Amino acid sequence: MAIEIVILTGAGISAESGLGTFRDTDGLWTKYDLNEVATPEGFARNPELVLSFYSARRENLAAALPNAAHVALARLENAMPGRVLLVTQNVDNLHEQAGSEAVLHMHGELMRSRCAECSATWPESGAMTIVSRCPQCDTARVRPDVVWFGEFPFFMDEIETAITGAKLFVSIGTSGSVYPAAGFVMQAGAAGVATLELNLEASDGSTFFDAYRQGPATEIVPAWVEEVLAGL
Ligand code: OAD
Repeated sequence: MAIEIVILTGAGISAESGLGTFRDTDGLWTKYDLNEVATPEGFARNPELVLSFYSARRENLAAALPNAAHVALARLENAMPGRVLLVTQNVDNLHEQAGSEAVLHMHGELMRSRCAECSATWPESGAMTIVSRCPQCDTARVRPDVVWFGEFPFFMDEIETAITGAKLFVSIGTSGSVYPAAGFVMQAGAAGVATLELNLEASDGSTFFDAYRQGPATEIVPAWVEEVLAGL
């Protein structure tokens, strides 16, 4: 079954679940220096700070629930099995909690840890500290299994193939300021794939989309999903 709709999601889809975005007023990057908490260099300089930052993110996520937008996307996949792919920049697991199965976490997953020594990864939802040990090699160089600035996002080949072969590319709740995700709309457009943006406010890349709908994700995403389902 070929993938017809590729949906890119960003922090905006989880905002109404109580998880902060990055660049809005009050966003995480207005309170923390991303160079200190989201780069390999920051981790080398001050692992305690980085691990406490991501441990706090885990605590927030453990208290969050999927919202109507996550639920609507799960419903869409359920109605079109094998024909919808979610590509998320989010490290939260709210798409999965809502029931989505075809999800690629291009920036990794918060509720997984990785060993910076041997690269083993494992599910973990509690706090990480500098004495946390890898279950495989027993080294104390545990980090979250997320992609930092300066590292390569995951699944890039798979994502590009899916986007360029799709009928529709939809971007939801992302500011379009971080590449390579910000360039997906251009790849889609160049391949003749229709493009739609759903966001609270026009993103940096809005002009590249064929269509744009404005509003909170919990309203505009379920409304759009209804329309797609009605047309099946
Ligand atoms: P940003 O914080 O950059 O952008 C969030 C977007 O969501 C903005 O365009 C908001 O207008 C929109 N938004 C906010 N509330 C919304 C709502 N209720 N409904 C719909 N839209 C809403 O977050 P991202 O674009 O996801 O990477 O950021 C991309 C990457 O930058 C992240 O994955 C993370 C970050 O640094 C890494 O850490 C590597």
